[in-house]
Amino acid sequence: MTKAEIIHWLRARLDPKLCRHSIATQEMAVELADIYSVNRHKATVAGLLHDCAKGLSHEELLLSANQYNIPLDEIRMTQPGLLHAPVGAKIAQAELGITDSEILHAIEVHNTGSTGMSRLDKVLYLADAAEPNRTYPGVEQIRELAFSGNLDNALLETMDMKICHVIERKRMLHPLSVDARNDILRGIIKGECYWD
Ligand SMILES: [Fe+2]
Ligand SMILES: [Fe+2]
Repeated sequence: MTKAEIIHWLRARLDPKLCRHSIATQEMAVELADIYSVNRHKATVAGLLHDCAKGLSHEELLLSANQYNIPLDEIRMTQPGLLHAPVGAKIAQAELGITDSEILHAIEVHNTGSTGMSRLDKVLYLADAAEPNRTYPGVEQIRELAFSGNLDNALLETMDMKICHVIERKRMLHPLSVDARNDILRGIIKGECYWD
């Protein structure tokens, strides 16, 4: 599928604001892909499609999760919006025939993160959080870090900011996010010890 065909498909599913966000995420993901030696095509497809299930209602997300055998835990049951990432990966596979497991994984974990994140996973996570339409306090710092050449440091700061936001809103934190952060931090600490 070409980029234009994917965008055409997205326009029928997402409102204009989400389409704009998806395209901007794709553009930033490709810029980051060049910095961090990630395949540009994979960054393009993952960036465009990461929110393809975001137009679904909570009921539809729960139904889709059931249909695609996506595990439902307490947090996903009470905050079904979280499911747009794993459901989006399944929709990209089922409706667009995307079979590349790296692209599908990047879409699946773009909101929570996971342990063992690939460079593509990290680039998508950062691009989603820091694309130019994002305006939350602190985004400039995240954007600067994303382009700094230190992928894991940028990721850790972004995760910290997102986790703090979840805590401030008194929402439940998904264990995948905690595991993802610990995993990135563990890698950073190991790297620092290695160079000592
Ligand atoms: Fe998302
Ligand atoms: Fe997004």
